[in-house]
Amino acid sequence: MALSRRAFLASQGVAAGVLLAPGRLLAALEAATPATPKLDDWKTVRSQFRLDPRYLHFAGFYISTHPAPVRDAIDAWRTTLDENPFLTTEQGLFEAESDNVQSRVREAAAAYLGGKPDEVCLTPNTTTGLALIYHGLPLKPGQEVLCTEHDHVVHHESIRFATERSGATYRKIPLFTQASKASVDEIVSRIRSAVRPATRVVGITWVHSQTGIRLPVRAISRALAELNQKRDAQDRILLVVDGVHGLGCVDETVAEMGADYFSAGTHKWIYGPRGTGLVWARPDAWARLRPVIPSFSDLEQYEAWIENRPERTPTSARRMTPGGFQAYEHQWATVAAFKMAQSMGRSRVAARVAELNGRIKDGLASMKGVTLHTPRDPALSAGICCFEVAGKKPEDVVKALLSKKIVASTSPYANVYARLSAAIFNTEAEVDQALGALRTSIA
Ligand SMILES: Cc1ncc(COP(=O)(O)O)c(C=O)c1O
Repeated sequence: MALSRRAFLASQGVAAGVLLAPGRLLAALEAATPATPKLDDWKTVRSQFRLDPRYLHFAGFYISTHPAPVRDAIDAWRTTLDENPFLTTEQGLFEAESDNVQSRVREAAAAYLGGKPDEVCLTPNTTTGLALIYHGLPLKPGQEVLCTEHDHVVHHESIRFATERSGATYRKIPLFTQASKASVDEIVSRIRSAVRPATRVVGITWVHSQTGIRLPVRAISRALAELNQKRDAQDRILLVVDGVHGLGCVDETVAEMGADYFSAGTHKWIYGPRGTGLVWARPDAWARLRPVIPSFSDLEQYEAWIENRPERTPTSARRMTPGGFQAYEHQWATVAAFKMAQSMGRSRVAARVAELNGRIKDGLASMKGVTLHTPRDPALSAGICCFEVAGKKPEDVVKALLSKKIVASTSPYANVYARLSAAIFNTEAEVDQALGALRTSIA
């Protein structure tokens, strides 16, 4: 931010006490933060990122690089917090609703997700969100969580820890023999036939970081809804989705996908501040959970503690939002990332990601000795392209690319694959250069 808050105050001729009167904090911040630029061409979008130009970046989904609007927002909040840590935090969290910054983050997230602000729980990442969900569910001995062989370590381990504590069990099933040849019918029917009377929760991953496949979440949720018709409300099968590699690069309205709980970091495809994420769920789904970490966002929980009585309201997204002080300049600057995502347009971004990754997949599929593990169908894939090269370890393929200044990655799973992923800051020319480098390195 060019203008510090003190400079801003001086320019406005107001004293700090006046600025920090209720209602002024957000207005002051807004006035001191540059507006989101017009982002209607990809060159301007690229210019928002400070990526090292000596490299071609094809692992952008791993952890976000902050674009200019997010950097500006973080700087603005950091300055304000450094100048007045107590007053800013008090006002931003605990005073008038008109100054509550977490509420502004919830509103920005809800507008993007197609849900309501009170449905959004703020987390530091996908992992914490999954742990909160599984540990919050009132699982009992005799009940099971059904998940898949393809989920990320943090998803599997959240389920294992929670079921070990509760005495419930879990089971992992394969959804396909080969991701690249999987179909919607195969995936849905495998889930449907794996559900048993004891199954209370189904945990899936929207876009897999092992193979790049994107699951048909709506079709899976419809199949579970049919099974639920024969069950009592308390025995309903709940659908938990790890959505991190779909949020921000797939044109979907998350709140309408049919998930009961949706956990995602906002520090990957949303380009939010590192260390930010969310869980989305409807009020009735939040009400089923038991809080795990005390909240700083729920007045009723605090008042019940002061008055030494049980809470009078059900568990909510606010009550599930982990308390303890956080890196607020990051959490609060998530608003800028959602604004940027809205300004670029969800469908435009999704189309661009599909186009660039389609180009990668076309190139990989045409290379001798390369096996593409990601489906070619854009409806069953998103922004991650996974492959193997005959006779070469994926780690060595990635090393060879890095020696040519191309940043790729490997999938951290039992079966390791090499990955190339194109994002909104990549170009067609960069994709062709990466494919050319791969072609020569495996020749
Ligand atoms: C599918 C999947 N889920 C969860 C995670 C962990 O995400 P986070 O760092 O937001 O906890 C990753 C890591 O990239 C992942 O690939």
